[in-house]
Amino acid sequence: MSQSSSTSTHSFYKNSAALYRRSCEIIPGGHHLSGRPLVTPEDSPMYIDRGEGSRCWDVDGHEYVDYVMAFGPHLLGYAHPEVDAAAIAQLRRGAPLSMNHPLHLKFIERLIARFPGAEMGTFFKTGSEATTAALRIARRATGRRRVIRCGYHGWHDWCLPLDAAVPDGLAQQVLELPAAEPERLGALLQAHPGEVAAVIVAPEMFHPPRREVFAAMIETTREHGAVFIFDEVKTAFRTPRGSMQQFLDLQPDITTLSKALGNGWAVAALVGKRSVLRHGAGLHLSATYHGDTAAMAAAMATLDILDREDVTGHVWRLGERLISGLDAAARAHGLPVVAYGEPIPSMPFMRFTHPQPDVRDRLRDSFYVEVLARGVLLHPRHLWFISHAHRDADIDRTLAAAREAMAAVRERHADLL
Ligand SMILES: Cc1ncc(COP(=O)(O)O)c(C=O)c1O
Repeated sequence: MSQSSSTSTHSFYKNSAALYRRSCEIIPGGHHLSGRPLVTPEDSPMYIDRGEGSRCWDVDGHEYVDYVMAFGPHLLGYAHPEVDAAAIAQLRRGAPLSMNHPLHLKFIERLIARFPGAEMGTFFKTGSEATTAALRIARRATGRRRVIRCGYHGWHDWCLPLDAAVPDGLAQQVLELPAAEPERLGALLQAHPGEVAAVIVAPEMFHPPRREVFAAMIETTREHGAVFIFDEVKTAFRTPRGSMQQFLDLQPDITTLSKALGNGWAVAALVGKRSVLRHGAGLHLSATYHGDTAAMAAAMATLDILDREDVTGHVWRLGERLISGLDAAARAHGLPVVAYGEPIPSMPFMRFTHPQPDVRDRLRDSFYVEVLARGVLLHPRHLWFISHAHRDADIDRTLAAAREAMAAVRERHADLL
């Protein structure tokens, strides 16, 4: 399904646009934050109707090879039959239930067995909850209050900029380590001796992810008596050997997990060392749905599949194919574009590199309008996700659409290039 590069896309997405107009009346901003327009509400699909495997369909009936993948949970593809069957069977037994359920224990046992050095764990619904809980446990364990962070760790007050309507005083409590200068960690810790409870780092911030950089951060953190938290919400289960820490042979004090863990069912967890996590006993880490056994059953089925199949090898290889194909296409069309893993090939991305920001944005938007209209759902401003359901044929189709889109951009913006 595609359209001529010179026609307006307005009628192409008319059902989407109509729903968006109605939403603007009753939903602040018209959409949840992850539903922000890929380009404009008129030139890109705003409403997706359903997904299956590597594909999704918008409300105007267009089919896409999807790389947005709902921002990462569907590592095995949308609506995975085995995962969904396990969750639905558990739902039919009542979920969540009162008190505790044997799955809570089995789920944490299973995660502990996967992460070397992990001895305890607990469970949540979202990544934001897991990271927030990890900090709370670290504060209790150390008796300190301040934290240092590097990366996106969720939507809670402590990880947002001050202009995001968060309470006063957070800038003194939550210090930021720039990913480009990890060696500044020591100085940050020294500036607040005996006051920093934890350093939390999202590994995707580091390009390339180098073992010695993380090992040095872990060592410095521990020297200062703080807890090192590795936020693997994005990277776990899609990095070879199972996670970034296993790939790089690292053992953080706490690891936070969500996204791919439940393959679309909302579940999160943290695991880590007993010496730290035992301080979580009696802390207020509680929400009505934390004990949801349906999502845990989905996670157990997901882990079964990850144990059985070479999921990380598959998504890594297809990511490498996509990256090198996009780079080659950009070179062939003379576009200022670089494709790369962000930082791993299973989370690829493509950046327009024109030195003038306005030209760069025009070229970028033009490319995305074209590629979306050719049936490939790519995000212009967020890294992409490859699933185990993606096939070589999906990559072929994607590269063919990207080549056409690049040719159209080249033709339309010859004056800018
Ligand atoms: C590294 C990382 N940590 C935490 C989060 C927050 O997870 P959630 O959106 O499930 O709250 C995200 C979400 O994108 C993330 O990428």
